[in-house]
Amino acid sequence: MAEESKKIDRQRRMLLGAGICGCVGAALGGRIEQVKAAATASAGDTLVHFQGDNEGLPLDPNALAPLEPVLARPRSSSGEIREGTANIITVIRVPGGELEESFAEMAAGDVVAVSAICTHQGCLVSDVGTFGTAEGKLACTCHGSIFDPRMGGERVAGPAPRGLPMLPIMQESGHLVATAGFTGKVGV
Ligand code: FES
Repeated sequence: MAEESKKIDRQRRMLLGAGICGCVGAALGGRIEQVKAAATASAGDTLVHFQGDNEGLPLDPNALAPLEPVLARPRSSSGEIREGTANIITVIRVPGGELEESFAEMAAGDVVAVSAICTHQGCLVSDVGTFGTAEGKLACTCHGSIFDPRMGGERVAGPAPRGLPMLPIMQESGHLVATAGFTGKVGV
């Protein structure tokens, strides 16, 4: 299997394994498509862990290490966890002081939240690159698009037509809470 197909297959398994197969239409020809969701994140939603032992529990911003992204979902004020690929969010702490000033208002200190869905062909963007222009930036492993969390998810390189929309957040009672919906269209 070609390297690219392996990467896409790994992402597919992760999404399917996370129980959102009903929201991801299909992976056709190495492409995850049909980003589809019910209501997307909105003001007042709390960010909770997307997967793992803490799935469904609120993220602790103080536990986030610099450049170690964590996947999250929004939980509405009525306690409903918002489903769908469009509600998968990458939360990442940027190294101290490196956040571009114009994005500071939408961040909780050094912590930013952006859509985890690549704007090229809808792959999951949840890795930080370690080499070249990808170093220290969010890298889509499908076709190499790179996004900078220091600039609110702006596209730095690759075929993605635009950046990852940001989810404005603040810290409240030790949790991360959305102050508005995404700043732009999620996914493709
Ligand atoms: S899906 Fe193609 S670069 Fe992300």
